[in-house]
Amino acid sequence: MSFFPKISFRGEVEEYLTKVFRNNELITALGTQEAESKYQSLLSRLSHPPGFTTVRVNTQLASVKHVKKLLFEEIQKQFKGLCIPVLEHPELQDILLIPVIGPRRDLKKYASEVIVGAQCGYAVLRGAHVYVPGILSTSRFMKAGDLVSVYSDIEGKCKRGAKEFEGVKIFLGNGISELSRSEIFCSSGPLNGMGIRMTEPVYLSPSFDNVLPSHLFLQNLPSVVVSHILNPQPGERILDMCAAPGGKTTHLATLMHDQGEVIAMDKIAKKVEKIKQNAELLHLNCIKAFCYDGTKALSVEKREDEQEGPPFLPESFDRILLDAPCSGMGQRPNMAYSLTLKEVTSYQALQRKLFTVAVKLLKLGGVLVYSTCTITLSENEDQIAWALKTFPSLQLQTQEPHIGGEGMRGAGLSLDQLNLLQRFDPSAVTLQEMDVNSLQDSREDDLVSLANKDCIGFFIAKFIKLNTK
Ligand SMILES: C[S@@+](CC[C@H](N)C(=O)[O-])C[C@H]1O[C@@H](n2cnc3c(N)ncnc32)[C@H](O)[C@@H]1O
Repeated sequence: MSFFPKISFRGEVEEYLTKVFRNNELITALGTQEAESKYQSLLSRLSHPPGFTTVRVNTQLASVKHVKKLLFEEIQKQFKGLCIPVLEHPELQDILLIPVIGPRRDLKKYASEVIVGAQCGYAVLRGAHVYVPGILSTSRFMKAGDLVSVYSDIEGKCKRGAKEFEGVKIFLGNGISELSRSEIFCSSGPLNGMGIRMTEPVYLSPSFDNVLPSHLFLQNLPSVVVSHILNPQPGERILDMCAAPGGKTTHLATLMHDQGEVIAMDKIAKKVEKIKQNAELLHLNCIKAFCYDGTKALSVEKREDEQEGPPFLPESFDRILLDAPCSGMGQRPNMAYSLTLKEVTSYQALQRKLFTVAVKLLKLGGVLVYSTCTITLSENEDQIAWALKTFPSLQLQTQEPHIGGEGMRGAGLSLDQLNLLQRFDPSAVTLQEMDVNSLQDSREDDLVSLANKDCIGFFIAKFIKLNTK
């Protein structure tokens, strides 16, 4: 049973999505009722957090078993002895899974209220404490040490510094204020530290703030799958075209045992700094990060300066990852999606430009992986149909591991082609309520298969570039 209302969209986006999820191919295959029921389940899953926290172990620095032990101890400390298992994954041998407990329906609510912004609220639902920049409003007389109830302003209506808020607010749980109201909203600008320590969140997940920072990387399960599918080998030259903050870049370098070259590009300078910081934190030296527009990364003539950065000559890379900028509708939790239809539909053209450059930069026999964290056909299966038509040298490949479902119908792809695609569809599983008792009774295999499904919405396609001349 749902705890939060379904995700909401602007009217025009809702209309667009309704057509996507009621397309003729899908209705013919599933029937109207099943297609509609899957779509409604999807809307409900999207507003709730995934059922598991996934962390990727930096296998360059430590073994999974060792980090598992350290993490188990850390969680016991955070949860004051509550026994939450840390699970290994049989197919993804570098991740650990931690089940999320919740929703906890019986929490008491306090008179003192704190309102946080939507993004901060989503982080709280995934285990974070509340940091000062995320706080929009507190009760008038809130002091350090007060017990408070924390709510999310999902529609972005609350003014910073407000003393009360009458708009739509979603209960996230209870915590203890670390600061007074006047310290939080002091005139010399916002502080950066912790504002509310969450003691009774509606969804209980560990906080990873400063927990084993060089050994762990918080990453959604499908994002970890992507780098395994690209399967980079030590000594190869790899391009990660849209790389910030570097979750997949650092994973690729780790899979290569830090041998070879991972070129990471991103259009936004500040985000490129984040890639560099993450590479340093994880002690990875084979990553070179550049601030560059991927649509301009192809050079037709050899450059005199022998510079190692972009633009690059055609056929420069053994493997390329295009983890494309996208409409991000698969992210969870999200209770109120704010993009306009124009914004949602703008990504297809950008993705095609980036894809075209990627195909040219790839060596013959090289591997290209395309991925998004969204659920639309136009950014996923439609792009694959377009790519296969536009680039006869590309051939779809089997994905290993194949943990998600097949591609969605509606883009005119054959069943064989859909089976080669991997779509993580959170509606593939019923919404779970996890408490400590049901967790103790669950088999580890069942928990892992739940984690494979109850994750963010995601899409992956793998191609090889053949010599068609
Ligand atoms: C889905 S995110 C990448 C996430 C990243 N691969 C990871 O796993 O951490 C997409 C990224 O594309 C970047 N981007 C958008 N347009 C771009 C362009 N034209 N060239 C390069 N990067 C671009 C965005 O700044 C954003 O960081």
